Amino acid sequence: MSEKKTFYITTPIYYPSADLHIGHTYCTVMADAMARFKRATGYDVRFLTGTDEHGQKIQTVAEKNGVTPQQYVDDVVGRIRKLWDTMEISYDDFIRTTEDRHVKRVQQIFMKMYDKGDIYKSEYEGLYCTPCESFWTETQAVDGKCPDCGRPVEKAKEEAYFFKMSKYQERLLDLLENNPEFLQPEARRNEMINFIKQGLDDLCISRSTFDWGIPVPVDEKHVIYVWLDALTNYITALGYPETEEMMDNYWPGIHLVGKEIVRFHSIIWPAMLMSLEIPLPKHVLGHGWILLEGGKMSKSRGNVVDPVRLIDRYGIDALKYFLLREYAFGQDGLYTNEVMLNRLNYDLANDLGNLVSRTVAMVEKYNGGVVPAPKVAGEPDADLIEMGTTTAGRVEMNMDKFSFNMALEEIWKFIRRTNKYIDETAPWILAKDEASKDRLDTVMFNLVEAIRIISVLINPFLHHTSVKIREQLGIAEEAVAWEDTARFDMMAGKTVKKGEAIFPRLDIEKEIAELEAITAEQMAIAKAKAAKDAGIEPAAEKELAPLKPEIAIDDFNKIDLRVGKILSCEKHPKADKLLVSQVQVGAEVRQIVSGVAAYYTPEDMVGKSVVVVANLKPAKLRGEKSEGMILFADNGDRLEFVTTDAPDGEMVK
Ligand code: MSP
Repeated sequence: MSEKKTFYITTPIYYPSADLHIGHTYCTVMADAMARFKRATGYDVRFLTGTDEHGQKIQTVAEKNGVTPQQYVDDVVGRIRKLWDTMEISYDDFIRTTEDRHVKRVQQIFMKMYDKGDIYKSEYEGLYCTPCESFWTETQAVDGKCPDCGRPVEKAKEEAYFFKMSKYQERLLDLLENNPEFLQPEARRNEMINFIKQGLDDLCISRSTFDWGIPVPVDEKHVIYVWLDALTNYITALGYPETEEMMDNYWPGIHLVGKEIVRFHSIIWPAMLMSLEIPLPKHVLGHGWILLEGGKMSKSRGNVVDPVRLIDRYGIDALKYFLLREYAFGQDGLYTNEVMLNRLNYDLANDLGNLVSRTVAMVEKYNGGVVPAPKVAGEPDADLIEMGTTTAGRVEMNMDKFSFNMALEEIWKFIRRTNKYIDETAPWILAKDEASKDRLDTVMFNLVEAIRIISVLINPFLHHTSVKIREQLGIAEEAVAWEDTARFDMMAGKTVKKGEAIFPRLDIEKEIAELEAITAEQMAIAKAKAAKDAGIEPAAEKELAPLKPEIAIDDFNKIDLRVGKILSCEKHPKADKLLVSQVQVGAEVRQIVSGVAAYYTPEDMVGKSVVVVANLKPAKLRGEKSEGMILFADNGDRLEFVTTDAPDGEMVK
C-alpha cells in the first residue's frame, strides 16, 4: 500500500472519431488542475485519460475515409496525445481501448459477469443512436430522435447478449437517493433517480452487425458493446482483474464526465461494479457544456473552437486560466472570443502581470534588486499578511468542492489585495524621503513575499506562469511547496530580475477580427469537406470578377431596388438572346427585357418573385421597351435568379 493518501481521477476516454475541440479540452484541463493540486497538497495521485476506440461510429467514419478502423484511430489518437503533450497535461496513464492490456481484461470482466449468471443471450429489438452509441426504446426516443443528442435513431434488431441490470435497480436507487455525494451536481442526481424509477431494462451488451470491437469470449460472432468496453477502462488501467496492487492503492476513484454521459457513469457503471463485487466510484462529477452562440460545437459545421489555435496565440496558461475561471462546474457556459480575451487582459495582464512587473521594477530601483528585510510595520501590512497566509485554505476548500472558478477567484482576490497595497503604501512617495527608507524596505519585502505566495498558489493551475514569476523573484531553482503559503519570511536577501511581461496586453478588437477570420476559414473547410463526403465535387477554382471601385452609401441609395413578380414572359420577336417579361411592381406592371434566353424559357420565368432595378432609365432593346432590369447572379456559366418571398413592390435595401 502507498504510504501517502491516494487520489485517483479520470477523464472520459475520448472518441477518436475527430480531432478534439475546446469542449473536450475543458474536462481534461480540470482533471489536470485537480491532479496537480492534489499532488501539491501531499497526495499520491493517479490521473488517467485515454481514448475510446471501438464501436460503430468509428467503424463508419473509417470506412468513409477509406482506411481501416485501426489506421483511422491511430492517426487521430496521435493528434490527441500531441494535444495533451502541447498542453503539458500531467496524466500518469493514457489508455487506448485497442491495447492488448485492455482487450484481454475486458474479456475477463465479461467472463466474470457471465459466470456469475448476470449475462444471458436473447434478441435486441429497439432503437440505436450511433453518435452516442446508445440504445433506446420507442417510448424513450423523442419524435424518432435520440433524447440525449437529438439526432435520428436507427431501428436495430439482432441477436445479442444482455446484462441483468434490472437486478441492480433497487441498489442503484438506494445509491443515488442515499449518497448525495456520489453524483453531483444535484440536478443530475434527481434526473437519474427519475430515470431509474421508470424501471431499468436489462442492457444489451453485444453487437453483431459490425465487427470493430472486442469479441465476446463465448461467442466470436459478437463484439462487446462499446460502452461496456469503455467504462471498464477505469479499472483495466489499474490492472483489474489481473493484478491487485494498483487497485488496492487507488480504487475507488473520481470520474469527471460531461453531463450527457452521466447516465452511463452513474447507472450502468455502478451496476457493472456491483456485479463484479468491487467498490463503487467515490464520485461521478458531471460538468456542463461549453456552448457557442449558435448552440453546440459541431465539427461537421466547422463551428468549433480549436484549442491549438488559442494556445499558439496566447499560450497554454491563458487557455487553462480561461477555462478554469470562466465556467462554474456543472453549468453550461457560453464561449465568445470577447469574453475570453477580456479575461486574459483583465485578470492576467492587468492584475497579475502588472503586479509582478511593477514590484520587480521597484525593488530594482529602490533596493538595487536585492529584497530588503522588513523593518517598520505599517497599517495595511497585517491585512495583507493575514490574507496571504490564509488564501491556501480557501483554495483547498473550493477545490474540495470542485469549484475551480472559486478557487481561482480566491487567489485573484489576494492578487487584487496586493495591488491595492501598492496604492495604499505609495512606495514612490516613500522613496522621496530618506526618513521613510525603513518603511519602504518593509513595503518592498511584503510585496515580494505576497508575490512568492501567489507563485505557489497558482502553480497547480498555471505552472508556466508560476515558473516565470519565480524566475523574476530569483527563486526558480527552489522547490515549490504548498506549505510555504503559510509563511511570510522567505524572501529577504533574494535578488530579483525583471523579465519579459508575464502576459502581454492584447488589442481586443484586433484579436477578435483575427479569431473570426480563423473561424470563417475553418467553416469553409468543413463545408467543403461535408460536400466532398456527400459526393458533391467542388466547383473548379475560378477567377472571380474584380471588385468595382468603392461607392458611398449615398451612391447606393440612388438605386431603387424593388420586388417584382413576373406575370408573363415571351421570346423577343427579333433577338434570340432576349426574353420580354411583364413584371408586377406594386401598383404598376412593367415590361422588362432580359438577356437570359440562353438559360431560361419564358415558362421558367413566370411566377418568379425577383429583384428589379426600378428606377433605371427606360430604354429600347431591339425595338422592345424595357422599364427596369431584373437582377441575376452570374456564376460564370449560368445566370441564377435572385428570388425573394417578399410581396411585389417592396423595397430591397
Ligand atoms: N467515449 C465516450 C466517453 C466514454 S467514458 C468511459 C464519449 N466521448 S466523447 O469524445 O464524445 O466525449 C468526451 C467528453 O467530452 C464528454 O464528457 C463530453 O461531455 C465532453 N464534451 C464534448 N463536447 C463538449 C463541450 N462542448 N463542452 C464540454 N464538454 C464537452 O462520450
